[in-house]
Amino acid sequence: MAIWTGEDGRLFLLHTKDSTYQMYADKHGVLLHTYYGKRIDNESLADLIFQADVGFSGNPVEAAADRTYSLDCLPQELPSSGVGDYRGGCVELVHSDGSIAADFRFSGYQILPYSYKVAGMPSLFDTEDEKGETLVVTMKERASDVTVRLYYGVFEKENIITRAVRVENHGSSQVALTQCLSCCLDFQYGDYEFVTFPGRHAMERSLERNLVGRTKLEVGSIRGTSSHHYNPSVILCTKGATEDEGECYGMCLVYSSNFIASVQKDQRGQTRAMMGIHPSHFSFCLKEGEVFDAPQVILGYSDRGFTKLSQQYHWILKEHMCRGKYKTAKRPVLLNNWEATYFDFNEEKLLKIAGQASKLGIEMLVLDDGWFGKREDDNSGLGDWFVNEKKLGGSLKQLGEKIHDMGMHFGLWFEPEMISEDSDLFREHPDWALRIPGREPNRARNQLVLDMSREDVREYLLERLTDILSNAPIDYVKWDMNRSLCDIYSHEYSGSRNGEVYHRFVLGVYDLLEKFLGRFPDILLEGCSGGGGRFDAAMLYYSPQIWCSDNTDAVNRLSIQYGTSFFYPVSSMGAHVSAVPNHQTGRVTSFKTRGHVALSGSFGYELDLNKVTEEEQEMVKGQLADFHKYYSLTHEGDYYRLLGPGERFCAWEFVDKEKNHALETLVMTSAEGNALPVHTIVKGLDPEKNYICSLNGNVHSGRVWMNGGLTLGSTPGEYESLLIEWNAI
Ligand code: GLA
Repeated sequence: MAIWTGEDGRLFLLHTKDSTYQMYADKHGVLLHTYYGKRIDNESLADLIFQADVGFSGNPVEAAADRTYSLDCLPQELPSSGVGDYRGGCVELVHSDGSIAADFRFSGYQILPYSYKVAGMPSLFDTEDEKGETLVVTMKERASDVTVRLYYGVFEKENIITRAVRVENHGSSQVALTQCLSCCLDFQYGDYEFVTFPGRHAMERSLERNLVGRTKLEVGSIRGTSSHHYNPSVILCTKGATEDEGECYGMCLVYSSNFIASVQKDQRGQTRAMMGIHPSHFSFCLKEGEVFDAPQVILGYSDRGFTKLSQQYHWILKEHMCRGKYKTAKRPVLLNNWEATYFDFNEEKLLKIAGQASKLGIEMLVLDDGWFGKREDDNSGLGDWFVNEKKLGGSLKQLGEKIHDMGMHFGLWFEPEMISEDSDLFREHPDWALRIPGREPNRARNQLVLDMSREDVREYLLERLTDILSNAPIDYVKWDMNRSLCDIYSHEYSGSRNGEVYHRFVLGVYDLLEKFLGRFPDILLEGCSGGGGRFDAAMLYYSPQIWCSDNTDAVNRLSIQYGTSFFYPVSSMGAHVSAVPNHQTGRVTSFKTRGHVALSGSFGYELDLNKVTEEEQEMVKGQLADFHKYYSLTHEGDYYRLLGPGERFCAWEFVDKEKNHALETLVMTSAEGNALPVHTIVKGLDPEKNYICSLNGNVHSGRVWMNGGLTLGSTPGEYESLLIEWNAI
């Protein structure tokens, strides 16, 4: 059993292969967090808690004369708010008398032999091969009839523990939930760094490390999406942790909307990390009998640096979050027409692009923005999901069939959550757009956002999607979302319930996605939000691949894909070979390098292959051969970051589970006179096996390769790249 409870039913240990998480409900019912780290035995560590009389840290009445007992100093699972813990609580309640207080105490527990589900939202699920276990701890509010259930899930093999929170109002009067974070991690001892992945549109997820001190470190989104700007995945690591050394704690929120992740040392040097829905613009009204479910946080632990942590997340997300046919089925190599034509296409152009692509071995044509309504540019048409047959010179069915006749799959772009003011939909239903009465809404890309919290809006979209997909042979959908939310006002949830709209919006998106996939279970869905603006664990539940960035520049992609790889598997990162000079940066890189970088992702093309040289057309065939040859390595193998961006070169590696085959990709990011040698280590081999290296034919044992590494015979030039293989002999 992964979950162990002490005899008194108040001590709880959650064991994974290499980690233990421990908590203890003390004599006052406060649920103390007593340990999270390397696996230990079934013994209480409550005695590690140091209590002292701390001035200005008050004492609850039940502590009586014991001035050393303070909620402001104890490490806790569900810190209270408004009653004496000044470090920030998880759940904040406004009661019917206007008081703001929440003080939860232990009242019981239950163990379930399977993984819990979070209502209305994605969460990690059990598979045939691995079932999780669940501990549900019930916490009762001291002065009201609100109950919180803390959910803890354990996936033993991957060193994963999950947390989620449900708030229930059992009282007759209404309460307002003004904050509901899913997770608090208190560490009494140790110095940590906070690793985050900030970015911007077309430059997502670069890595940043900050030392945790008394100044609060906080990232988050209030954009209604998980955002390009910060990712809902963060790491706390021991100071100076590297890829291979140091303790790392991952926190990954399964949620695609507003989030917050913060960490701070308190007055006594204890560290508190918190994660959940961002409290800004959040207020949820709970009437008698109503419940609120907060999203799941996936906690990961590594006793050996970032690589192990990442590999655990890759595995758990691939196995227990991604679903459907394409969880395991090989993904087709696609060509997307966006950068090839933008809005300027017709049937002839598309067929010419598809014809050339299919001749070279590409397996799918994706028709991007511009095929519907009145949509000659990005100023109009969103919401009018009716095929523009004039532009296509016929029906979508005809086009799809012609693409299929070429032996290719056919994919289509949608942006369901949006509405253009210049659209029939807006003219008919102006109240379907999020706008505040009496205010001019903010426009972004000249579009507004549909109120996805409304059922009638979702019904319309489902009907449109169903109609289009039922009447044309469509194998893939790119589901885009091209602006941040603001001007939040719902005609349905108006007045005091407007604080619910951000959350109800994303629940609406999940609901629509679920129903859509229920109707078209075999469709391959690719998530997108101006590239990687909604690259999060929850979206992987619907789309096993997500367009990683609107930036297709091979060199910029090194840092984007590097940052993304800390939590998300390579199989989830849409990566395409595009034209040069690159449309986002103007940089020129070789066709070969663009291929090598895109191969470490969900591979495809984003250009007109009629416009490249014959030599490059031949190279496409080689890239496709590499794609097929290395598919199982890149999509199922273990991933190692060897050298990150910002150095002279960037390198990463895949190793198959049997450790017979390894593949390294190396890309030079700068050039210097009097060039220095390029040396990389090799990781993940079996020390006892012998391997031959494809670059120089040298044979060494895995032990020698892993310790000595590889030096290239000569130093490649700027932006040049290499694929190097090791095969066991
Ligand atoms: C977003 C996507 C692009 C493309 C355009 C179309 O920016 O990220 O890939 O689909 O929209 O408008």
